[in-house]
Amino acid sequence: MSSTPDVVSRDTSSIISPPLPDPLPAFDRPLKLGILASGNGSNMEAIAQAIRSGQLQAQIQVVIYNNPQAYVARRAQRWDIPSVLLNHRNFASREALDEQIIQTLQAYEVDWVIMAGWMRRVTEVLIGAFPQRVLNIHPSLLPSFPGIRAAEQALKAGAKVAGCTVHYVELEVDSGPIVMQAAVPVLPGDTADTLQARIQQQEHRIYPAAIALAAVPPP
Ligand code: GRF
Repeated sequence: MSSTPDVVSRDTSSIISPPLPDPLPAFDRPLKLGILASGNGSNMEAIAQAIRSGQLQAQIQVVIYNNPQAYVARRAQRWDIPSVLLNHRNFASREALDEQIIQTLQAYEVDWVIMAGWMRRVTEVLIGAFPQRVLNIHPSLLPSFPGIRAAEQALKAGAKVAGCTVHYVELEVDSGPIVMQAAVPVLPGDTADTLQARIQQQEHRIYPAAIALAAVPPP
């Protein structure tokens, strides 16, 4: 007797991410980026690497971080990128923090605000100061699984496909028009950590490309 064909294959590794434009768009002058990060900073470093390799025509003018322990500060130092600590605990309101962020970004002549693991809600103060120029990356295929612990949310829901999204920032957390997404399979035996690691590989691949695509002037 022939065995039943495995019509619902568990091997979803053929799910692919979109091929990226190669080369990425070029600009009259390098994009001036300001990175907002609260933690590890691997996306910041992926962007720095894409710049160094010539893939992304940009400069990181400054890294702003809000948590004194954030490893991103060490990474910035290694890359010789100025970093500024703006500890949210020292500000009376979210708006007051955003005002100081804006002043810092302006002092470093930033054109594009790149949130890369920034764990604070932003207000209309920041969004209004950089209209259509604030991007965020989130470790899910938005609009599914906004908020914290997205990989864990995906596992709990039994999702078979996970991924990451680069989007313009709007007031509601993890909302706003999508610039780029990449998908990864959820594999049997995945934990939140193994899935998050797989998602992060794609984050590092798409964030530099999404920045370049977002910065292309509309026709
Ligand atoms: C990423 O997974 C990003 O999607 C989310 O926070 C994480 C930051 O990672 N917003 P890292 O600090 O860039 O390593």
